Amino acid sequence: MTDPKKLFIKTYGCQMNVYDSERMVEALGGAGYVETQTPGDADMILLNTCHIREKAAEKIYSELGRLRPFKEAKPDLKIGVAGCVAQAEGEEIMRRQPLVDLVVGPQSYHRLPEMEAKTQKGDKALDTDFPADDKFDTLRNRPKAKRGPTAFLTVQEGCDKFCAFCVVPYTRGSEVSRPADRILEEAVNLVDRGVREITLLGQNVNAYHGAGPGSQGGGDWSLARLIWALNDIDGLERIRFTTSHPNDMADDLIEAHGTCAKLMPYLHLPVQSGSDKILKRMNRSHTAQSYLRLLERIRAARPDIVLSGDFIVGFPEETEEDFQATLDLVEEVKYGYAYSFKYSTRPGTPAAERAQVGEDVKSERLQRLQTLITRHQRDIQDAMVGRTVKVLFEKPGREPGQMVGKSEYLHAVHVTDSGVVSGQIADVEITESGTNSLGGRVIR
Ligand code: 5AD
Ligand code: SF4
Repeated sequence: MTDPKKLFIKTYGCQMNVYDSERMVEALGGAGYVETQTPGDADMILLNTCHIREKAAEKIYSELGRLRPFKEAKPDLKIGVAGCVAQAEGEEIMRRQPLVDLVVGPQSYHRLPEMEAKTQKGDKALDTDFPADDKFDTLRNRPKAKRGPTAFLTVQEGCDKFCAFCVVPYTRGSEVSRPADRILEEAVNLVDRGVREITLLGQNVNAYHGAGPGSQGGGDWSLARLIWALNDIDGLERIRFTTSHPNDMADDLIEAHGTCAKLMPYLHLPVQSGSDKILKRMNRSHTAQSYLRLLERIRAARPDIVLSGDFIVGFPEETEEDFQATLDLVEEVKYGYAYSFKYSTRPGTPAAERAQVGEDVKSERLQRLQTLITRHQRDIQDAMVGRTVKVLFEKPGREPGQMVGKSEYLHAVHVTDSGVVSGQIADVEITESGTNSLGGRVIR
């Protein structure tokens, strides 16, 4: 028997890319590949890329340049680009970087075996179509191998919202929800392999409208309905979902946060800005007030919920007053986590054509916003000291005898010499709050 060929994948960007990279390993598994963590051993190197901001996209060209020595050492090595940069700039990648053999967009991963065969004949392979067949078909031969206690599961892809700054509707296409029975089958498979917590993924996950089992017409299950069905799976202990849009926070989903035992008290709900003028120009179709009222309803359903958000500073025409409104909103909400970015012009999006805010102004605003967010984050983390939380342990920590995991609220928690193992959920009394994690002791 010949040795299997080796595949090295480097993943950039969001959790959906992490999930997709697993699908690519499975798809190429069918073509005789096994994954390696060492690029020097690889017969194929794939970069799974992100196009959301300019820096992320440009990084790919320098990364490809760094792969040249590997190709020189092993001329048979195949180099591929996958993900959103592949979708947006496929032809240009081929032109700018001749060492690339293969370019595959995010909807075509199930076709990788055919593409790989083409590269073996010395041809280049490019596929950035949005095919009618299903990229999740790589899952038909489900793997059985054990895996860690947490997993991602994509339930929805694409976006119809067209926020004026965002490339996602162009790179990932319009909203598509997977049928519920396929998702439930995949969840059971993950649980059988040792998974105890599943994070449901989608660019607009709460817009999920999939066909329920046995459905004729499709689209009849909401995200809440899907979560309730997952709640019934024995051995699955925790459910999370990300990323959500405020306009799709349906009543049944808000209610589930108060009543569904396995749904964790954490919600990532980006608002992007606190200024109504900017929200309008971003095409967000909600106001700062409507967002705050929505959070009130969510907190009424689940008072201890930890909230998380995304912000863009320096969107075209953002004034100091607009930015102040963002600071005011953050001050009012007090996020447990928040991710903030300088606006980055993306080709083909409406906002790219408008009057831009200067780079220094953006940097200065970003720093002020991050200082405020970090303060709230610290306060919320520090307030956990003295409380008892449930921790799902994932892996050994850096210190001897240490195990680390996550609380219900997604805080990283570490304990020492406590005898807990990966996959175990234990009550932990929090005794200290560090820079990025909490420390505690297991309660017997
Ligand atoms: N510039 C800066 N940030 C952006 N995001 C999306 N597009 C851009 C852009 N052009 C941010 C948004 C989104 C997160 C995933 O990335 O905050 O919620
Ligand atoms: Fe992009 Fe807006 Fe869609 Fe989110 S909702 S993926 S920010 S267009």
